[in-house]
Amino acid sequence: MNSAGFSVYAALEGSLGLDAIRDALPVGTPVRTVSLAEAGRAGSEVQHGADLVIVGCSHSHDQALDVISAATAQRTDRPIVVLYQGSPNGFLERAFEAGADDLVALPQSAGQLGFALEKAMARRRGSGPTVSEGAMIAVLGPKGGTGKTVTSSNLAVALALAGESAVLVDLDLQFGDVGLALGLRPTKTIHDLAVSGGSLDGDKIEGFLVEHPSGARALLAPLRPDHAAVIGTAFLREVFAILRSRYDFVLVDTPPAFTAEVIAAVDASSHICVVGMLDALSLKDTKIGLETLEQMGYDSRAVTLVLNRADSDVGITPSDVEELLGRAPDVLVGSDRAIPRALTKGQPIVVAEPRSKAARSYTMLAERYLVATGRPAKAAAPNDNERRRRSLRKAG
Ligand SMILES: Nc1ncnc2c1ncn2[C@@H]1O[C@H](COP(=O)(O)OP(=O)(O)O)[C@@H](O)[C@H]1O
Ligand SMILES: [Mg+2]
Repeated sequence: MNSAGFSVYAALEGSLGLDAIRDALPVGTPVRTVSLAEAGRAGSEVQHGADLVIVGCSHSHDQALDVISAATAQRTDRPIVVLYQGSPNGFLERAFEAGADDLVALPQSAGQLGFALEKAMARRRGSGPTVSEGAMIAVLGPKGGTGKTVTSSNLAVALALAGESAVLVDLDLQFGDVGLALGLRPTKTIHDLAVSGGSLDGDKIEGFLVEHPSGARALLAPLRPDHAAVIGTAFLREVFAILRSRYDFVLVDTPPAFTAEVIAAVDASSHICVVGMLDALSLKDTKIGLETLEQMGYDSRAVTLVLNRADSDVGITPSDVEELLGRAPDVLVGSDRAIPRALTKGQPIVVAEPRSKAARSYTMLAERYLVATGRPAKAAAPNDNERRRRSLRKAG
């Protein structure tokens, strides 16, 4: 196996197979090990950044299957190799169904295991150098005005302030307002890119992005609703794949409907962020949205639920919400006048009023994604962030 930089995530029952894995991999290959139970609990937090997932189990077949399904839902391009010991009892077939590339019975010599791992990686990726792929988060919400654009723009900037490369695609092709939310002049848009002719590549797309002072970039929506028609799903799929190969985080702001473009974005995403609002109609639609994602085969563990205006006094308690949606929200954002105030200034609230409660909620959301994608170490020191925010506010 060549030692071209790649990293391994190993979810193991006990430390089953760990020595064999270490022996089989090139010296110095980073291997992050977690217990199978922990990986199952973490769900969507299966490490996104890893290039190879190894699952080792002897008895806990169901836990192993959960980890395989979560890893598959998160990224379809990454090989998953399962090591097992003892009687498989129908486990092999179910593991393949869940997305495993190969199953290897233990004990196994380092040479044989190394060959199996190499084969799985080669099959998924071709034998060229491994290209690591960034996370892609589609921000969805069932109604207009639930806070999708506020969420996606603040998330993009919060991630950029944490030292990640982040790009936000405005897929609200008719009424997109990411440019307004971030105070960006729409000198170029996704429509310009779509009609530019010729083939797409990273450098070309880069030329159509608009940069926010935080370092976050945006592919803005067309200036006129009738321009939306030329933006097809094949084009979008290509754009998403190219952006994922270049950015740590690709965020997608969406219109309030499962349009063909939104479905293409959901298909291409590693994570989904559903934004619902605390009122009876929005919650009903949020429930339908969550069910639709499930029907599309999207693993609910890769779905983060943000409840906006969560402190509104509308006679709905947190336990009502949980009962209705079948899950508790992951992040709550209160109603905060600072949000429209920041929008008026064309600044995301994480820059305009970083100490406000709402800004803290968005920073927390960004931190969840940093953890879910195994990137917490890269976050800039809080003092650095504060300095950068201050200079951004001055610039704005
Ligand atoms: N938590 C909040 N507190 C106060 N105002 C909010 C909050 N969330 C959103 N808003 C306001 O609601 C409006 C709609 O938000 P937006 O993000 O554009 O929704 P969407 O993109 O889902 O249509 C904006 O004017 C914004 O200022
Ligand atoms: Mg919007």
